[in-house]
Amino acid sequence: QEQTFVMVKPDGVQRGLIGEILARFERKGLKLVAAKLVQVSQELAEAHYAEHRERPFFPELVRFITSAPVFAMILEGENAIAVVRGMMGKTNPAEAQPGTIRGDLALTIGMNVVHGSDSPESAKREMELWFPEGALSYERSLDAWLA
Ligand code: GTP
Ligand code: MG
Repeated sequence: QEQTFVMVKPDGVQRGLIGEILARFERKGLKLVAAKLVQVSQELAEAHYAEHRERPFFPELVRFITSAPVFAMILEGENAIAVVRGMMGKTNPAEAQPGTIRGDLALTIGMNVVHGSDSPESAKREMELWFPEGALSYERSLDAWLA
């Protein structure tokens, strides 16, 4: 089964949306295999967003993600990476469809409540970066009814 790195960003944690966001992924059938609340360091922030290093909004991005705790997790399931991206909606909440997390819960691109890996390569990189201790492997009796 595919795994992806997902996080509720500082705005989502501050607004009390961890449960709402996690509940959507759980109802979808995705399996939570790792989770933790993290106060992100400057180093972790810069490593996570390394691909955006040259962008004008990079300093703002790092300041935001280190400003308060995030809720980091690994979710597992068939096509988990694409499924999570679809459920998140477009990067800019103003363009995100109603029914998506950003479409329903966010207003502005700088604070779009959730992150999800965008490819198998970035999922691997981000999971190793955020969860060097690894994830759990366990069976749920309902797994047979999902995929
Ligand atoms: P993530 O899942 O957070 O990586 O979002 P994404 O993959 O949909 O977008 P992308 O990786 O292109 O950008 C990463 C994050 O940078 C976005 O989620 C936004 O929070 C932020 N971002 C992107 N573009 C802008 C911008 O033009 N201005 C600001 N302030 N932030 C931006
Ligand atoms: Mg991205």
